[in-house]
Amino acid sequence: SKGTYEFYMLKEIDEQPAVMRRISNDYFSQDGDVKVDNDIVKAMADSDRIYILAAGTSYHAGLVGKNLIEKYSEIPVEVGLASEFGYHFPTLSKKPFFIFLSQSGETADSRVVLKQVNERHLPSLTMTNVEGSTLSREATYTMLLKAGPEIAVASTKAYTAQIAVQAVLAKAVGEAKNLKVAEDFDLKNQLALAAEGMQELVDGKEKIDALAKKYLPCARNAFYIGRGVDYAVALEGALKLKEVSYIQTEGFAAAELKHGTIALIEQDTPVIALINDPATSDLTRGNIREVQSRGANVMVFAMKDFAHEGDDVILPKIDYYLSPLLTVVPTQLLAYYASKNKGLDVDKPRNLAKSVTVE
Ligand code: M6R
Repeated sequence: SKGTYEFYMLKEIDEQPAVMRRISNDYFSQDGDVKVDNDIVKAMADSDRIYILAAGTSYHAGLVGKNLIEKYSEIPVEVGLASEFGYHFPTLSKKPFFIFLSQSGETADSRVVLKQVNERHLPSLTMTNVEGSTLSREATYTMLLKAGPEIAVASTKAYTAQIAVQAVLAKAVGEAKNLKVAEDFDLKNQLALAAEGMQELVDGKEKIDALAKKYLPCARNAFYIGRGVDYAVALEGALKLKEVSYIQTEGFAAAELKHGTIALIEQDTPVIALINDPATSDLTRGNIREVQSRGANVMVFAMKDFAHEGDDVILPKIDYYLSPLLTVVPTQLLAYYASKNKGLDVDKPRNLAKSVTVE
């Protein structure tokens, strides 16, 4: 039930620290070892390329997962939109392994791909929130997200759970390959930091409501920008804002704006800049100045270490590859308040269904 919450979306955003703790409890042993079904780890460690397929928010979680798996398992990863992959299979590597990300486990676009994977007798894993769901039954292996039921159409806690469980998998596979980088990855501690950081961010929700009230009521369009994993979060932040508030929002690789889209920046266009990437934070600051000088209202969500005075949200410190777990929270809250402040039905945006069982 919604309890005291007006909408499930906020309840589910608030539940994310508990979801991180549950994943940490369930996927680590008492003595702190990562715990993943051996068959899954072996099949993945044996593969020469991972293909992650998904739709919508789950696809965005896959983009983050690619970074995690390449970093900590050292296996190349391709991420595809299931709907595009289904009818135009790329040339596969010799030993592919498929991961299907799906909160519901029922997405028809993903089922089309899995059907072909099965016809080719290739190994697959479904990461889903729903035990016994179709994608889970049809894949070789399943890992559960443990996010608890997600009711709001806009996916929030399933996204962060997908990132955390992909990190668990990346570490387990990397350790099976005896990679030092995986052994040194203190994921259990990082998940504790994520839970704490998320709590701090949800506790600061009034600040996000104030930003929504200041910058978004009259906005026709908006932009999220970021580089590296922040680009992946920019895509997710944009999807969330558009689907619940109906403000047309696009996520961009920060430097790409100047290759065309900056033409859309006008007086008071909202631009939300995400900064966690040490390699590019100065460059993104430059992009912020470019849009500011065209009149944009810029909101900056930046990790503590790279924050400047006047930034709107200071993101607690965490491993760069896991930073989406924290960065996404204020983007979820911004979408929530933009929608609620317009008097919209936050949990049931027009034209959308919770699980999309048609192609
Ligand atoms: O159940 P799934 O994770 O397979 O669903 C995929 C998308 O339909 C879903 O993420 C959708 O994009 C959400 N409305 C996003 O908030």
